[in-house]
Amino acid sequence: MDSIVVTGGTPLNGQIAIAGAKNAALTLMPATLLSEEPLTLTNAPRLSDIKTMTALLQSLGVEVTSMQDGKVQVLSSHAMTSTTADYDIVRKMRASNLVLGPLLARHHEAVVSLPGGCAIGARPMDIHVTALEAMSAEIELKDGYLHAKAPGGLKGAKVPLRFASVGATENVLMAATLAKGTTVIENAAREPEIVDLAKCLRSMGAQIEGEGTRQITIQGVDRLGAATHPVVTDRIELGTYMLAPVFAGGEVECLGGRLDLVGSFVEKLDAAGVDVTETPDGLKVKRRTDRAKAVDVTTEVFPGFPTDLQAQMMAMLCTAEGTSVLEEKIFENRFMHAPELIRMGADIEVQGGVATVRGVERLKGAPVMATDLRASVSLILAGLAAEGETTVSRIYHLDRGYEHIEEKLSGVGAKIERVSA
Ligand code: UD1
Repeated sequence: MDSIVVTGGTPLNGQIAIAGAKNAALTLMPATLLSEEPLTLTNAPRLSDIKTMTALLQSLGVEVTSMQDGKVQVLSSHAMTSTTADYDIVRKMRASNLVLGPLLARHHEAVVSLPGGCAIGARPMDIHVTALEAMSAEIELKDGYLHAKAPGGLKGAKVPLRFASVGATENVLMAATLAKGTTVIENAAREPEIVDLAKCLRSMGAQIEGEGTRQITIQGVDRLGAATHPVVTDRIELGTYMLAPVFAGGEVECLGGRLDLVGSFVEKLDAAGVDVTETPDGLKVKRRTDRAKAVDVTTEVFPGFPTDLQAQMMAMLCTAEGTSVLEEKIFENRFMHAPELIRMGADIEVQGGVATVRGVERLKGAPVMATDLRASVSLILAGLAAEGETTVSRIYHLDRGYEHIEEKLSGVGAKIERVSA
């Protein structure tokens, strides 16, 4: 199994190009199920999660053509052969559940495996199910699969979500585009990936208003057509690389970066003593002092601090001056990076959903193990500033969400290499 070896202590300088968002692409791809005509996605990221979604869609009969080394994906659902999302694919990636809404909307039926437990928490599907039931779907759980049908088609409805779930908002938004009448999603998630999905659906002919606010209104139409859509910048990859010079020193410009995608994160960086400046091509980042300052962070739904940047922020705060308190409010088990950071010399105490990080002067390189996608990258970032060598194993998690990470970091001067065992 591959591992990544990072040798700390080199300041980073230069530019890093930020890719299209994994989490946007994973909801844009199933949107193809809503139309017989092709959907072309440009600026698609090259990641193993995208390959998993491709395999899932192909198993339903979708034709997927990858061009420009995977940056352009053309999807066509004109000859569907199945409406069943099999456990073997769904268990690899929770986002597979995003086929449920579109399948129900266009084919009036779907059988989708439950994703099962996940390393960062239980992640159930109740919000998706309750919402689609409000739109007249009949859904039952049998043999680990959700069996859903909507005889006569989905009907528009008022759909209040008990929590602003990203996936549930996306499923309902897609389903409602072809439902009869008007759907109003209340307490909708406001993440930029949802705004991107709404934009794409609108190019396909959907009638949507209010994306990016708590209430989204969708007027169902009879059919959707072809569209070409550029995937929005990945704000989590952006935030991750914005932290690289905070760990290692130097100045890095993240090409394609936008302040509106990372507002709450930038506020915390500013409080920690980091300068972020807008440039014509993106965002430039440099720390003001030798050591960052401690800050408290609570993860929230967008526009709050993203849970997907919590691990990276914790790793940074391990060497900040003072004590930081991090509270994880989205997932119940998302501090698995803490024991690994402690192996590198960090002083962290975890109690339930709260971690107290007392800043130490420097971390020391160590062999560490990645436990999930964002935890893995936090260990690589920590390695950039640590004394000596850090070997991160189980990096298949990384390839799910970061394309060409070694090239991107070595391009700005990091000493990093992938080693095959
Ligand atoms: C998406 C992102 C993920 C990110 C998360 C929160 C994708 C592909 N993934 O995941 O990277 O960390 O948003 O920003 O876009 N929940 C329920 N019942 C449900 C659905 C969710 O209890 O029916 C709970 C989950 O267990 C979790 C919380 O709600 O604790 C957030 O989940 P949700 O917003 O749905 O995240 P995902 O869409 O799975």
